[in-house]
Amino acid sequence: MHVTMRQLQVFEAVARHLSFTRAAEELHLTQPAVSMQIKQLESMVELPLFEQIGKKVFLARAGEIMLEHSRTILDQLKEAAEEMESLKGVEGGHLVVCIASTVNYFATRLLSVFFQQHPNVRLSLDVTNRKELLKRLEANEPDLVLMGKPPRDLDVEAEAFMDNPLIIIAPPNHPLRGKRKIPLRKMEQETFVMRESGSGTRIAMERMFEQHGIRPPISVQLTGNEAIKQSVEAGLGLAVVSIHTVELELGAGRLISLDVEHFPIERKWYIAHRKGKRLSATAKAFREFVLQQSDSMA
Ligand code: PGA
Repeated sequence: MHVTMRQLQVFEAVARHLSFTRAAEELHLTQPAVSMQIKQLESMVELPLFEQIGKKVFLARAGEIMLEHSRTILDQLKEAAEEMESLKGVEGGHLVVCIASTVNYFATRLLSVFFQQHPNVRLSLDVTNRKELLKRLEANEPDLVLMGKPPRDLDVEAEAFMDNPLIIIAPPNHPLRGKRKIPLRKMEQETFVMRESGSGTRIAMERMFEQHGIRPPISVQLTGNEAIKQSVEAGLGLAVVSIHTVELELGAGRLISLDVEHFPIERKWYIAHRKGKRLSATAKAFREFVLQQSDSMA
């Protein structure tokens, strides 16, 4: 079998998504290019790897076996690459970091200091919300992730490096401005704007309100912290956000923080990686750096 690595990668992506379109998106290929690779692979093994019933794609028996072997081969290759990276030492290395969108507000500062110290390190940086970050972590793509609380059902090694208080923000002319210890129940008379599903901030906010039996009305759901801040400034409602996302606006008086009972929600930021992952010298250095910097950042 003269199978290429690319064909195995394409096959693995189609098998994981059970969709040619989504595999094409992930690999930045066109759908005909993906279909072509699969056809070539099928003609080499002389068996169909997928079955299509209506619009649904299923793995054929040969596909199941091929998937098992493909994953072993691709994992081995990844391990080899990781070992090669670790031989290169800190300076020549390549660092793959995935960070939660909310961490982005200060992570870029951390990264820039690290890169001043190690100017030859190459970086791949991915910024996304919690749900997408967990998918990447599960697929063992990044060396390290900076995220909210790591899930219990995934084998990760995680260390907290910084506090992440969640506060309630409001426009500066809000009637509750300056009030102390506002009862949580009062929030039911307010309207909130909320992050997209998949956001860690949103999960923490929903959990806190639920624990206290509170159901504040939601006016709109928005993707990303920037959209949330702008809509609060524009008077669409209040919002729960990480204090790190609004430092500038609070300083400039464009937004205020309300002193509401049970707030701030005390969360932490973690640096994490899959258990058993062989961290390269560069990844180890970055991890140490983040843990050391955490005190001065706080
Ligand atoms: P997010 O932040 O809200 O941008 O997903 C991650 C988290 O708080 O867990």
